[in-house]
Amino acid sequence: MLNSATHRRQNSCNLRQPYQQRTPPSPPHSTSLARFSLDAAYHGSSESEDERENEDLSDVGELDPLNYETRHTRRSGRRIAKRFDSETAPLREGNSIQEKLLRSYRPPRWRLWRRCSGTSRSFCLLSEPYYPTPKGGRYAGWTDSFRKAQILVKQMTLPEKVNVTTGVGWSMEMCVGNTGAVPRLGFPSLCLQDGPLGLRFADHATAWPAGLTVGATWNKDLMRRRGQAQAIEARLKGINIILGPSMGPLGRMPAGGRNWEGFSPDPVLAGWASSQTIRGIQGEGVIATAKHFVANEQEHFRQAWEWGTPNAISSNVDDRTMHEVYAWPFMDAVGADVGSIMCSYNQVNNSYACQNSKLLNGILKDEFGFQGFVQSDWLAQRSGVASALAGLDMTMPGDGLRWADGRSLWGKELTKAVLNGSVPIDRLNDMVARVVAAWYHMGQDNTLNWPLPPPEGDGGPNFSSWTLNETGLLHPGSDDPTTGIVNKYMDVQNVGGNGSDSHQLLARAIAAEGIVIVENVDNILPLSRIGWSAKEVLNGEGKEFHVGIFGEDAATNPRGRNACEDRGCNVGTLGQGWGSGTAEYPYLISPVEALRQAFNDSVSITESTTNNLPSASVLSNQDLCLVFANSDGGEGYIASGNIKGDRNDLGLQKGGDRLIKHIADHCGRDEAAVVVIIHAVGPVTVEPWIEHPAIKGVILAHLPSQESGSSLADVLFGDVNPSGRLPYTVGKSLQDYGPDAQILFNANGLRPQQNFTKGLYIDYRYFDKNEITPRYEFGYGLSYTTFELSGFKLEHVAQNNESFPIGRPGGVTPPGYPMQLPNPQEALIPSNFTKIKKYVYPWLDSLSEVKKGRYHYPHGYTWVKPPHPAGGSQGGHPDLWIRAMHVEVHVANIGDTDGAAVVQLYTMEEYNPRVDFPVRVLRGFEKVQVPAGAKRTVAFDINRRDLSYWDIERNTMPRSTPERKVGCRLLRILQARSN
Ligand code: BGC
Repeated sequence: MLNSATHRRQNSCNLRQPYQQRTPPSPPHSTSLARFSLDAAYHGSSESEDERENEDLSDVGELDPLNYETRHTRRSGRRIAKRFDSETAPLREGNSIQEKLLRSYRPPRWRLWRRCSGTSRSFCLLSEPYYPTPKGGRYAGWTDSFRKAQILVKQMTLPEKVNVTTGVGWSMEMCVGNTGAVPRLGFPSLCLQDGPLGLRFADHATAWPAGLTVGATWNKDLMRRRGQAQAIEARLKGINIILGPSMGPLGRMPAGGRNWEGFSPDPVLAGWASSQTIRGIQGEGVIATAKHFVANEQEHFRQAWEWGTPNAISSNVDDRTMHEVYAWPFMDAVGADVGSIMCSYNQVNNSYACQNSKLLNGILKDEFGFQGFVQSDWLAQRSGVASALAGLDMTMPGDGLRWADGRSLWGKELTKAVLNGSVPIDRLNDMVARVVAAWYHMGQDNTLNWPLPPPEGDGGPNFSSWTLNETGLLHPGSDDPTTGIVNKYMDVQNVGGNGSDSHQLLARAIAAEGIVIVENVDNILPLSRIGWSAKEVLNGEGKEFHVGIFGEDAATNPRGRNACEDRGCNVGTLGQGWGSGTAEYPYLISPVEALRQAFNDSVSITESTTNNLPSASVLSNQDLCLVFANSDGGEGYIASGNIKGDRNDLGLQKGGDRLIKHIADHCGRDEAAVVVIIHAVGPVTVEPWIEHPAIKGVILAHLPSQESGSSLADVLFGDVNPSGRLPYTVGKSLQDYGPDAQILFNANGLRPQQNFTKGLYIDYRYFDKNEITPRYEFGYGLSYTTFELSGFKLEHVAQNNESFPIGRPGGVTPPGYPMQLPNPQEALIPSNFTKIKKYVYPWLDSLSEVKKGRYHYPHGYTWVKPPHPAGGSQGGHPDLWIRAMHVEVHVANIGDTDGAAVVQLYTMEEYNPRVDFPVRVLRGFEKVQVPAGAKRTVAFDINRRDLSYWDIERNTMPRSTPERKVGCRLLRILQARSN
């Protein structure tokens, strides 16, 4: 074994190549699929026994049985009677719920969590109960914020506390989410606004390049600066909480509708991009939201009823895959101190993500040590009491099971639940403390930066999500006719000034770096502004150069750049996908406009910005044809044509392939060149035309948003040397991605089941394992210069040689609160108060609403659980973050153009009969600018987590291999990509 001394060694491993000749993939694993019958699903949930009892078809999925509101719905008398059959008396005596209930009761063995026995062999169909919720305030970085929160929360009445946890209802105030305020104590209503790309529904704000584009930059600095600039805009608009970044869906299915909101299907790239975005956002005092936790990988069936099924889809994921793939970026987000996490619509292992105690109490709050608050996705909360006990802290937008109905599962129902003991008061205190602490943690109590809303100050949102008029309804979701000034049209785009911090320039730089050039035959690129290259001019070729620009995707939607709400149509150039993750374009520079400007006046330009096939005579007259095509998708509440959120395939849309082939067949007389430019929400298959000899250039420009044309021109003409690299694999067909990567388009039951059978093997890991040659591999992209790598050095920094993380640091004691239940009288609505219709309030109309009785806590609530061995700090056990290796490599730019190389570090494992490992996994990357002729050294620190895997028996992350073997097996640096 190595001791703590550092030592060096050259890596001389003989490594297996990831791509070899293609062999047919093995057929889907039929035995494991068979285990997931509908029947099993119905009887599967161990989250609550009640849930199982209640699964009859008249009732299924309508409500969770632990929902406090259930008596208003179709329920059997038996259920109602049982719900009030409670154990609340001990609470009234002022003892903690744990003290009273945790009588070291051990459940019978058969009721325990059924363990997974391996990633590829079986699945955790059932979600483990994980109670009670670990309290916030355990880690030193948050001690101060929780202490301040304690002082405030202790002064709050019960309805005031409830108000902080509950949204006031859809479109009741100006933002997409608004919490209730506590004006008496100066705690404002919090404004929550999408999102991952820009400030949704806001005017005069930047529409940033989408997450996928940011992923394609592989530029950590730009990732952070985009977050920061977005947060500056948010603060000036009065937004407290940005609903982004998105790191779920991760991108298990390349056709998934919302993948583009996130960064990459690779957890490490997604984790870096997310955590850098979070650092940028929160550095400006705005709370970031890591969303959507977790495994919300497709739009079809994501929500109950949205797709006709009474229940949302269940993503069935084994524990190892959860930790090493889907939860990984969230772990990074917690490590980056994220203030909020949004739980998703879907179920995970047959328990809704927003009431899944294993996910929220277990993975997020215990293992990862998450100190902020969990908010629900909009209407993703499916139960009242169960979700509170499982670790949900805030419900959004406040309405209950149906959109904009004003019948919250919390609000007054939470007030009742606390008074009758079904939600322990210490859980409510923790919920509120987490929200208030996050507010303090970001410095939002500083009224200089965050003035209070009127009448105390002039803060709060100064824009309306619901109208562009200056004056509008103050509570548009209700029938209240009160109007006021709702839009102040504050221009927040230029706060960065004109330097490199200017938001416009920053957006342009990101969009340009997010462009990936995948073909550049005969160095057709970069183009010359006069059309002819210098050599051709010398040769005296042609006087006038003819360029044709073709395709609808080259121009702005003729009805206007924002004509389709939430960008919910594919007309004109594609700069964003569709859904809540979009922003209004303040302006949109289309490709055709930018190219018109960019070419010299001597160049003759022909434009045909529809997908109609241009005539052969027009085409034959061109020296260069630039063809644009696209592929769009988005969030499931919008369908455009026959695309219902998720894409139906990976093909170009609106006849793009046909157009490209036609132009390639007819462009120019003899030797004209065709360059294809694609805007898309994810990978597209290029097989129909990629081998066409006329096609010399292929550019994947992703989703550039407002600076579309300018960023494209920057790269096309070589003002910016392309440095984007693919954040996903481009396969030759959708089938190449494997059976697990296919969207479930048809419900396979009332609670659709989707089994993540391939476990760790998504995207390039699947291609590697099955030896499928992709068209373009993950991490690929061309530059206008050439890089060379040399001098690879690997250094062990072995500070801790134990296989498993040692012990678990205790952390600090969370602040305490009195356990007495409040006087019920304080929950009554003030006598002179007039309610607004459908607005969600915390008060009771009468004390008779509080029913006394016995309440059954969820299955597993009384089990004594030691703290999770994988926890111990924010972001998991601190040992996981110990530096384990240092790697260095030299990158030389041997071309004649300055450029940026992206050095990617992958780890590989030798065959291990006990644990299955992907052929390689990305573990680090750095983008480095290297002037022509120069050499730079790139350094990586690899931490223990990078060399670990999730051990399903021990529930923690041991090192993947004994220390002494590590050096000789693992590291391979993919060449810095260049042409
Ligand atoms: C989306 C979230 C979004 C929320 C608020 C939901 O439909 O899934 O991502 O933040 O709406 O707009």
